[in-house]
Amino acid sequence: AAGGEPVAPEFKQDISRVGVVGTGTMASGIALVFAQSGYDVVFVGRSQAKLDGVLAYIGKTLDRSVAKGKLDEGGKDAILGRLTGAVEREALGDVDIVVEAIAEDLDLKTELYRDLDRICKPGAILATTTSSLPITKLGEATSRPEAVIGMHFFNPAPVMKLVEVVTTNDTAADVDETVKALCANVGKVAVSCGDRAGFIVNCLLFPYLNDAVKLHESGIEIDTIDAAIKEQAGFPMGPFELLDVVGNDVSLAIQKELYGEFKEPGFAPAELLEKLVADGKLGRKTGEGFHTY
Ligand code: CAA
Repeated sequence: AAGGEPVAPEFKQDISRVGVVGTGTMASGIALVFAQSGYDVVFVGRSQAKLDGVLAYIGKTLDRSVAKGKLDEGGKDAILGRLTGAVEREALGDVDIVVEAIAEDLDLKTELYRDLDRICKPGAILATTTSSLPITKLGEATSRPEAVIGMHFFNPAPVMKLVEVVTTNDTAADVDETVKALCANVGKVAVSCGDRAGFIVNCLLFPYLNDAVKLHESGIEIDTIDAAIKEQAGFPMGPFELLDVVGNDVSLAIQKELYGEFKEPGFAPAELLEKLVADGKLGRKTGEGFHTY
């Protein structure tokens, strides 16, 4: 209300069962976020081995909480009991919202959205965690563009509080409000954002990360830059540590999108970033990126 207290978002439709598609870092973290907050979660991956990977990450994270005395074994079992893995997308037929976190590839996502549109019940919300693809296009792949929205979590999803809620021109106001209420319910802080390259955070963060790589290419050691930014400038991680957490493939995709959109010469992806991706050195998830793990 103008001049008054901000009005808390309200659920305009019931959300109790959540679907997650994907088995990578973001999908695993997001599945945990919802299960931890009491939602039943169906997570879908391409193989049993990938589903096991999600449960291994979640089990390890919960074990750490138990070891720190923040959770007891009963609480851990309750969270695990709310998680159901499936290799068939058909398992998403009765969820109220799907949060999709598969690879940043428009063809793959378009195919998935067509399928989700067919499988998911009428009214179910389709939320994407894309950080670099136009959400409007994903909506256009469905017969329900009003129910397609961005829910951009940050890595690590269980820790980072921010979610950029990205509406397209087609997204219904009730869907926007429901997703914001859902964010609040799982302890996240939602910020509204239009469907523009980089949204808010990546539009500012990635030119900095890309510049760090170019600074290194000009002769300054990775550890020196990381230490300067972390220890002296007060950031929680240095740029190379952060690139390794985010993943160099994801970072390159975001940087290419920003360059394509804004055409700033300085936004051209750093050569070393391209090379590491070509060499499969994607960061923590492959054991090597700018640093070795
Ligand atoms: N999964 C789950 N929990 C995790 C975790 C993970 N991968 N990593 C850390 N944690 C938890 C720890 O268990 C710990 O929990 P408790 O407080 O309950 O004990 C807490 O986070 C703090 O962890 P640590 O004490 O081990 O480590 P830290 O104090 O160094 O913090 C950090 C780790 C939170 C990751 C911190 O380094 C940080 O904030 N880094 C910056 C992260 C960032 O900027 N992310 C955004 C990247 S951009 C992006 O994601 C957008 C995109 O589109 C690519």
